[in-house]
Amino acid sequence: MSDASRETLKFAYWVPNVSGGLVISDIEQRTSWTIEYNRKLAQIAEASGFDYALSQIRFTAGYGAEYQHESVAFSHSLLEATTKLKVIAAILPGPWVPALAAKQIATINHLTNGRVAVNIVSGWFRGEFHAIGEPWLDHDERYRRSEEFIRALRGIWTEDSFTFRGDFYRFTDYSLKPKPIDPQPEIFQGGSSRAARDMASRVSDWYFTNGNTPEEIARQVDDIQSKATANGHHVRVGVNAFAIVRDTEEEAKAVLAEIIEKANPEAVKAFGHEVKNAGKASPEGEGNWAKSSFEDLVQYNDGFRSNLIGTPQQVAERIIRLKQAGADLILLGFLHFQEEVEYFGKHVIPLVRALEESKETVAVAAE
Ligand SMILES: Cc1cc2nc3c(=O)[nH]c(=O)nc-3n(C[C@H](O)[C@H](O)[C@H](O)COP(=O)(O)O)c2cc1C
Repeated sequence: MSDASRETLKFAYWVPNVSGGLVISDIEQRTSWTIEYNRKLAQIAEASGFDYALSQIRFTAGYGAEYQHESVAFSHSLLEATTKLKVIAAILPGPWVPALAAKQIATINHLTNGRVAVNIVSGWFRGEFHAIGEPWLDHDERYRRSEEFIRALRGIWTEDSFTFRGDFYRFTDYSLKPKPIDPQPEIFQGGSSRAARDMASRVSDWYFTNGNTPEEIARQVDDIQSKATANGHHVRVGVNAFAIVRDTEEEAKAVLAEIIEKANPEAVKAFGHEVKNAGKASPEGEGNWAKSSFEDLVQYNDGFRSNLIGTPQQVAERIIRLKQAGADLILLGFLHFQEEVEYFGKHVIPLVRALEESKETVAVAAE
């Protein structure tokens, strides 16, 4: 397990650039997918101590999420509205090819003083690929392609006369000009199957996984970090969570109960059907959503499982446990983004920082 006294935890939030918020529920959500709402949210987030914003890439609905803004253009707009926040643009190999992604991101890197990062997603939504005329690859083939994509991105960004002979991508003597300025764009990756973990242990700067208990996160982290060490690679870990932080535990739990009670069963089932193409479709049958219950699926990335639902003190302590399990970053979704990001920055992040500083960290971890 990792040392909890290492770097301070980073905080990220999901950019709601897709309609319907982060839960498949008819509960009231004071969140909007518009650019006006999101630019203000990004400003609130950076003033509240958030380090990163993560945009989503989605080409079509099928289970809710009816409207979707494109991730790279949207991310650039958020970067223009802020001065410190880093924005992670989601990129899906297939629709994107590495030459275009490398060029686009290098330009945004120059325009925003190096604050853009990428999240290379591997795809789980077969209906979406079908709708946009993209060939659908088997689970592990998707990761083989993603790994080549990442190797190509790095090569283009750092080498002149870049030559690459892969099964999916080929480059000959390619020199991108201008290359990104330092810091180089960080490369995040989403997915937790064995193929995803192996890829993280070889090429990704960051590994993003769905929400889970500290015990399950520790298992994933141990697997990845032992392989990364053997590969001489350094990778950091981001864990998803849906935060419901209220002044009392009862209030927070009541909100969770209402989200579940007002879940849209048809849309949740349709989503549950689609995500069978993720981890469950891998040779080992493990990975994101492989064990998700109906309640878990109400939040797109199993965010209730991380249990950041309670008072600021309870949530801060549970965040420290995730850090003890090996998380370097906590990725957060909220019901009412603008107001809850601000509340989280005011009431939870300072407690986390205090716990990180104090000996209480050890006591919390030992519970
Ligand atoms: C934090 C996070 C963000 C993700 N963002 C997207 C996204 O924007 N678009 C998308 O199609 N898939 C997204 N994914 C899905 C992953 O890229 C991957 O396809 C999925 O998690 C299945 O992983 P597995 O089969 O390796 O477990 C995301 C996953 C995670 C964990």
